[in-house]
Amino acid sequence: MTGTRTAGTRSTGLPLALVLVCGAAVAVGLGVYAKTHPPALRPLFLVGFSGMLQLKTWLATAALVLVLVQLATALWMWGRLPAAGPAPAWVPPVHRWSGSVAFVLTLPVALHCVWSLGFVTTTPRVLAHGLAGCAFYGAYAAKMLGLRLPRLPGWALPVLGGTVFALFLLVWLTSALWFFSRSGVPLF
Ligand code: HEM
Repeated sequence: MTGTRTAGTRSTGLPLALVLVCGAAVAVGLGVYAKTHPPALRPLFLVGFSGMLQLKTWLATAALVLVLVQLATALWMWGRLPAAGPAPAWVPPVHRWSGSVAFVLTLPVALHCVWSLGFVTTTPRVLAHGLAGCAFYGAYAAKMLGLRLPRLPGWALPVLGGTVFALFLLVWLTSALWFFSRSGVPLF
């Protein structure tokens, strides 16, 4: 999130509509691919982990830590941490880099979810996970596009950023937390 918009810049509904349509297209496209392609049911790579579940859970959890850094730095930049005072100059780069690294960490995870397993609807948890995963990438695409478009309403970026955060939390709660809470599964 880069934050500031030039004072007096007029916002129209068109850039916002474009951002939302692009985000929806990404989410729906991912969901359609996940639903229609035959699941490979095997990992592509394990990079030292004992299984696909372990790889996905730990990378997703590392991403969650960075996403929490994102939340804290976003609140600081937008003046929502009054006790901390104005955000120092290092906060915006930390926000950008933690977000970029978190996003990159989600890619091998989602690749394994979508390519290896697909869109599964067998239980409410797994259905919610797949829906939130697709919506997460749609919201992320919308936010990245929103950062680059002028004339977006001032509330749009915080709302898009908050949506990305909430969706990632839901993805993590419906997958990694569930994995950690299961007894008898080797964690590494
Ligand atoms: C930010 C993106 C995503 C992350 C971080 C993520 C993370 C995870 C993790 C850690 C697991 C392992 C725990 C488990 O098996 O429940 C998992 C499983 C799974 N994921 Fe994802 N996922 C993402 C996106 C998606 C998407 C887009 C889909 C499908 C549309 C999907 C479908 C699945 C399925 C079907 C499982 C197996 C669930 C089960 O049978 O228990 N995931 N995911």
